[in-house]
Amino acid sequence: MHETSPHTLLIVGAGAREHALTWKARQSPLVKDIYNAPGNAGTEQIARSIPRGTKEIDELIKYAHDLGVTHTIVGPEDPLALGIVDEFTREGLSIFGPTKEAARLEWSKAWTADFLARHPEIPSPQSFAFTREEDALDFVDNCPWPDGLVIKLDGLAQGKGVFMPETKEQAREVIRDIYAKKIFSTLGPIVLQEFLVGEEVSAIGISDGTTILPLLPSQDHKRLLDGDQGPNTGGMGAYTPVPFVSSQMQTRIYQEILQPTIDAMREEQTIFKGVLYAGIMLTNNGPKVLEFNARFGDPETEAQMMMLADDLVPISLESAQGQFRRNNIAFKDGTAMTVVLAADNYPGSKKGDPIQILDTASDPDIAVFHGATLRNPDGTIVTNGGRILSPTARGATLFEAKQKVMSLIESEPRKLYFPGMQFRRDIGKSALREVTPTY
Ligand code: AMP
Ligand code: GLY
Repeated sequence: MHETSPHTLLIVGAGAREHALTWKARQSPLVKDIYNAPGNAGTEQIARSIPRGTKEIDELIKYAHDLGVTHTIVGPEDPLALGIVDEFTREGLSIFGPTKEAARLEWSKAWTADFLARHPEIPSPQSFAFTREEDALDFVDNCPWPDGLVIKLDGLAQGKGVFMPETKEQAREVIRDIYAKKIFSTLGPIVLQEFLVGEEVSAIGISDGTTILPLLPSQDHKRLLDGDQGPNTGGMGAYTPVPFVSSQMQTRIYQEILQPTIDAMREEQTIFKGVLYAGIMLTNNGPKVLEFNARFGDPETEAQMMMLADDLVPISLESAQGQFRRNNIAFKDGTAMTVVLAADNYPGSKKGDPIQILDTASDPDIAVFHGATLRNPDGTIVTNGGRILSPTARGATLFEAKQKVMSLIESEPRKLYFPGMQFRRDIGKSALREVTPTY
């Protein structure tokens, strides 16, 4: 049944997520050539780079036609929000991901809040939107939620519009500040949301518009420093599966959140194809959605590609065609972990520092995915942004996976190094601690 490698892929994006997708796709017998736009010093070792950014959709379409690209996989959210899937599809080009309208689940918090209000069958924290300062302050005075509230501004990315006051007085201060600084006038209503207590996990699945096939649950670590201290980041490390998410809980997340979201989108005639990522809080009252993304996670994908036993390419093709020819996705045994090595000023970014990467090739369950890296004409590899490398390993247990990754970073001689590199030593702490939460 083997056709001879009919596919030429375009993978859009430049991070470690895209390197991991390229690494996985490279293993597919269906793939002849892979192009990355724009790629990085890591993807360049296994595929070719196109010097175009992720938002240059017209240019990417030209390249796709000229290079005979048969299928495109999109990593980041920006091109999805700009309608890359709509435009490629209009050109008759196969592409994996949701349309601009379907991707609103990620790019509009206000739309998503309304969507969740229209679909109470999908469990989410209670939320109310306010336009008047007095009404918001009144609500705080009479707050009905036992664990307090979260204050959210619409239209701000990466958690920067989220405040978690510890007392009513702090909540009032935040609200007064928002109105006094007139942030409000540019941002639309503020949302007061029930504070949820629990462990946060990522539930990610791939949909063909009708069904959704879940990947293994994973857990990201968003704060910069050990012990969940420091500023919010894009993510400092992840592992999958998550031992305290029982198979019973995985079924609940699938039945109560992932599939009902796909059903609700279809009901509203906004068919969602591609990757649906639900950020979930496991509360004492069951799993609840905190946010949706319309794409793979970074760094979750680095660990997930290492666990994926099936070929990613036909799964993404079937999703794009709107018809799976399978009932599930198969995974390898064990656990995979990735630990992000970030620039010394991350969440800022750094350019031009030399990176040392010594050989790690002997173990097929270890990969050093590149994020923001650049190869100079003289062959040296230098830093080129915030998250620089995502070393990733699979082991029989979470503990073993972690040991493999940390030995790349910490044992002498150091295999991976650049000046000032920051990383967390406590990735997986919730799952490794002796008394694990039970959900
Ligand atoms: P968001 O940008 O909405 O994903 O929020 C960023 C982070 O704030 C989440 O990853 C959570 O850690 C936290 N957060 C957001 N909403 C809530 C909530 N209702 N209860 C507790 N934590 C929350
Ligand atoms: N790891 C979080 C994200 O990709 O949004």
